[in-house]
Amino acid sequence: MAQNKTRLLEILKGQPVVPVVAVETAEEGVQLARALAAGGLRSIEVTLRTPAALEAIAAICDEVPEAICGAGTILTPKQFEAVERIGVQYVVSPGATMELLDAAKDSDVPFLPGAATPSEMMAMMQEGYEVLKFFPAEQVGGAKLLKSIAPVFPALRFCPTGGISMDNVGSYFALPNVVCVGGSWVAPKDMVASGDWAGITQLAKEASALQRKG
Ligand code: 3PG
Repeated sequence: MAQNKTRLLEILKGQPVVPVVAVETAEEGVQLARALAAGGLRSIEVTLRTPAALEAIAAICDEVPEAICGAGTILTPKQFEAVERIGVQYVVSPGATMELLDAAKDSDVPFLPGAATPSEMMAMMQEGYEVLKFFPAEQVGGAKLLKSIAPVFPALRFCPTGGISMDNVGSYFALPNVVCVGGSWVAPKDMVASGDWAGITQLAKEASALQRKG
């Protein structure tokens, strides 16, 4: 299956903001997933940027049934297969390679590849992908870029990520081609490190109340 678009959209439309997190231990991942879900952000993208990531993803899948655990920063087929084996509900990449697309083709797990330019978007469409991560959103042109490509690629839907916060998220949610945004601002490193789970639940509540157009 190329993308499992129906299930992917179901997940992405379920909440306006997908927390993008990097955790130092499995226990931290579990506590964080619980705190975010308690604030209404059930879906969480745990990035493979720390040594504990795979263990944390497995622990969240096992111990936090209220969470929808995705794996992010997937760069290779080997990583795709590893998180698929653990049982993640979706897989995210900052970009795409032919090897990664091949791995996704053989899997039922929904895959959200990244694209940042019109040519990358066209290449993804050619491979059957219409729901894309737009990364790094703010750095490559932000909401203005997404607005200008909307009439060119009317079928495409995006989850912009990178440099988004409560200050600029409104510009993305005004666009019909934005399904949700990704961001780390709902799980700030200092709050995670100090175990301020109540504070994170509060940030999640504020984020989950945001309204979008797309
Ligand atoms: C990602 O991988 O999606 C980003 O690193 C998240 O970006 P942010 O930290 O600027 O929200």
